[in-house]
Amino acid sequence: MRKQTINLGFIGLGTVGCGALEVLRRNEEHIAQRLGARLQVTRAAVRRVEKPRPVSLEGIAVSADGWEVVNDPHLDIVVEVVGGVVAAREFVFGAVRRGKHVVTTNKELIAKYGRELFAEARERGVDVCFEGSVAGGIPIIHPLRESLAGNQIQELMGIVNGTTNYILTKMKREGMSFEDALREAQARGYAEANPTDDIEGHDAVYKLAILSTIAFDTPIRVEDIYREGISQVAVEDLRYADELGYEIKLLAIAKHEQGVLELRVHPALIPQEHPLAAVSEVFNAIFVRGNAVGDVMFYGQGAGALPTGSAVVGDILDIARNILHGCTGRVPLVNGPERPVRPMEEVTCSYYLRTRVTDRPGVLAAISTILGEERVSVALMRQQLAEAGTAEIVWVTHPVQERNLRRALARIEQLDVVREINSLIRVEALKTGKAG
Ligand SMILES: NC(=O)c1ccc[n+]([C@@H]2O[C@H](COP(=O)([O-])OP(=O)(O)OC[C@H]3O[C@@H](n4cnc5c(N)ncnc54)[C@H](OP(=O)(O)O)[C@@H]3O)[C@@H](O)[C@H]2O)c1
Repeated sequence: MRKQTINLGFIGLGTVGCGALEVLRRNEEHIAQRLGARLQVTRAAVRRVEKPRPVSLEGIAVSADGWEVVNDPHLDIVVEVVGGVVAAREFVFGAVRRGKHVVTTNKELIAKYGRELFAEARERGVDVCFEGSVAGGIPIIHPLRESLAGNQIQELMGIVNGTTNYILTKMKREGMSFEDALREAQARGYAEANPTDDIEGHDAVYKLAILSTIAFDTPIRVEDIYREGISQVAVEDLRYADELGYEIKLLAIAKHEQGVLELRVHPALIPQEHPLAAVSEVFNAIFVRGNAVGDVMFYGQGAGALPTGSAVVGDILDIARNILHGCTGRVPLVNGPERPVRPMEEVTCSYYLRTRVTDRPGVLAAISTILGEERVSVALMRQQLAEAGTAEIVWVTHPVQERNLRRALARIEQLDVVREINSLIRVEALKTGKAG
């Protein structure tokens, strides 16, 4: 007989755990009708059992031991919303090895151990779903794995970290320094007390590793991805970028060209007319180009209790349907071979450069000579008087290999008229594509 009830256990009842529980409670009847069965949370584990939660825990046996969830033989699905990779990893692997399906929102876990985990899940015939691990409430994993699976994905480019997007938005709109904008993000709960993972781009790297693994059907290691954070972006850069018709965003970029991948996370100038330029505050968006669909963009709330809860409940429903139809373990994480990743010095980009020089005749000519000799062609240049006796020069180059640009910069830095190279930021001028 068809199952009437699917039993769920939660490990973690923090922001996401309580958010998902709230979605299950609020939409209970609607979900039961859609599924044709009931979802029932019977067990949960947290660190501090006595801590009050913003959602009713009626009918749920709560303990301080995650293994009580993993070992409960009545559970069909375990939802891991603990975070970190130490205890969470043990719980997730433990659940899969006991034949339980898993829903997780843990990007670091999936990015670092996804390959191992999915091999294990395949062997046990269970599903592991992780929609909430990238861009919170925005559906992007399912679309890439299923709706867009008939495409060859050529590139994807996303704003996948709300904290850094909020900071850059504040710096741009209110002229705040990076430090002040970070403090405000922390005061509003958008940034952790230790914000390194967000600010230095690690969080975006985990997300890009997950997205590109699925998009290009190839195993991607976190170490394959070039990473730069936003701590070096100054208010002046945002102002100059604006004057030039650009926004500065922390972008996660993945491209596939003739079997070779380009994978990078760094701040970049994008034209103000590009759809990603309008993504501000804590919002996230992912732009995908497929060889059949053309360009598509996914936009929404990249974090928060209910948006991420929505993704978790979507995954639970997906697995529950598979259980009800006896067809779990259908979609593997990766089937394709490994692909080479282009080293950063061979990547071709345009660059924005801000330099401070001595204000005297011949400076521009000296710099231009070096740029010419290193085959760096300048698309645009602005000069502005700065403090006594110095000028600030902003350059935007035509596309050039990073290796050539680095060589030119090393020589320019040696010129006695060059006081400082303040900023070097890549420019992503995305061409609008058509299917073909
Ligand atoms: N917050 C978001 O908007 C968001 C969005 C997307 C993805 N995520 C990811 O979702 C996961 C959870 O994030 P969150 O913001 O919900 O974290 P959180 O608010 O810190 O909640 C973590 C929960 O795990 C419990 N916990 C911690 N260690 C445990 C252990 N050893 N055994 C049992 N329970 C334990 C905590 O218990 P106590 O409550 O008793 O301390 C808490 O309930 C992370 O992987 C995060 O990266 C979060």
